[in-house]
Amino acid sequence: MGNDFHVVPGREVRAILDDNQMATFNTIRQAYLLHHKKESINPHSYFFRFPDNPGNRVIALPAYLGGPVDTIGIKWIASFPGNLSAGLPRASAVLILNDAETGLPIACLEGAAISAARTGASAALAAMSLRSAQEPARLAFIGSGVIARAVLGFLRVAGFRVSEVSCYDLDQGRARAFVADAAKASDIAVRQVPSAEEALESDVVVLATTATAPYLPATTRLRGNQLVLNISLRDLPPELICSAANVLDDVDHCLTADTSVHLAERLSGGRDFVTGTLGDILTGNLRLDTGRPVIFSPFGLGILDVALGSLVLAEARRRLTSIRIPGFCTV
Ligand SMILES: NC(=O)c1ccc[n+]([C@@H]2O[C@H](COP(=O)([O-])OP(=O)(O)OC[C@H]3O[C@@H](n4cnc5c(N)ncnc54)[C@H](O)[C@@H]3O)[C@@H](O)[C@H]2O)c1
Repeated sequence: MGNDFHVVPGREVRAILDDNQMATFNTIRQAYLLHHKKESINPHSYFFRFPDNPGNRVIALPAYLGGPVDTIGIKWIASFPGNLSAGLPRASAVLILNDAETGLPIACLEGAAISAARTGASAALAAMSLRSAQEPARLAFIGSGVIARAVLGFLRVAGFRVSEVSCYDLDQGRARAFVADAAKASDIAVRQVPSAEEALESDVVVLATTATAPYLPATTRLRGNQLVLNISLRDLPPELICSAANVLDDVDHCLTADTSVHLAERLSGGRDFVTGTLGDILTGNLRLDTGRPVIFSPFGLGILDVALGSLVLAEARRRLTSIRIPGFCTV
């Protein structure tokens, strides 16, 4: 039996994502709701590491998402931080999709752009759902790479109100470029700040670094009305996690791989510091008491890649911009 297999290269993926930002945001929202209803299978990610080069890794994220998506997939995403100095992206990925009825592979899509978009949309969804204050937020980024840019873009798409943007990055050149691009895209004030501590004074703080272990001091404190989007997962000391309200995308996933919340579980000897999941918030099953800072820690679920990859594939087929390989599985 033959089947068509579609390859969607990065340029086509990017064009589709750029033209479908609101649809991307809604797709991510729907994926979280389906996951909350347990219409998903999302095993733990597999971290492939290199003993001689511990900075590099490749992660496999297999997932099935039900409902109208009804698709199986796996993202295989590499992180090679040394690539940046060679002018190459740190993260690169493919996303394979399979038909849920037959198991047959149906597509291979460039996966890094999809991964960045789903991460940005997820962070924006959390910001819209978790910030209780009414006034526009002072927004800060610690780390100004691909993910920080995606988060900023989707906060705009979602209509998140911001009064100013600041940015701190260990690499001052990258922070300068982020500030320049963000300033071009809007008329609010955008500035570079000299330290992570200064960035942490903002109302909403996005952590998007490549830190592998907490570097912010254990004495770091947040104000009651602050929201931290803990995207890079390993910047915050576990003591700070234990003092805040913690919303996770998936508890079992987040409490692995030496994330700050994983360290908090070890430090506190349990999971009492976990307040709930984004699914609990989206369905109205959890309301946060105001007065405590809120930290959103998303492990980054494969179902989000499958959901957004399915949207991109459908659009690429409609536009005839995928490369179609008839009878791919015929031998
Ligand atoms: N949770 C999720 O769903 C999810 C999804 C995708 C990526 N991520 C994570 O997000 C992070 C950012 O990814 P990216 O693609 O933007 O990476 P990137 O390499 O494009 O950018 C990272 C930036 O962080 C800066 N940086 C590193 N350490 C720093 C520190 N201690 N203080 C300030 N700046 C620092 C670097 O100079 C760089 O500019 C990575 O850790 C990645 O694993 C998380």
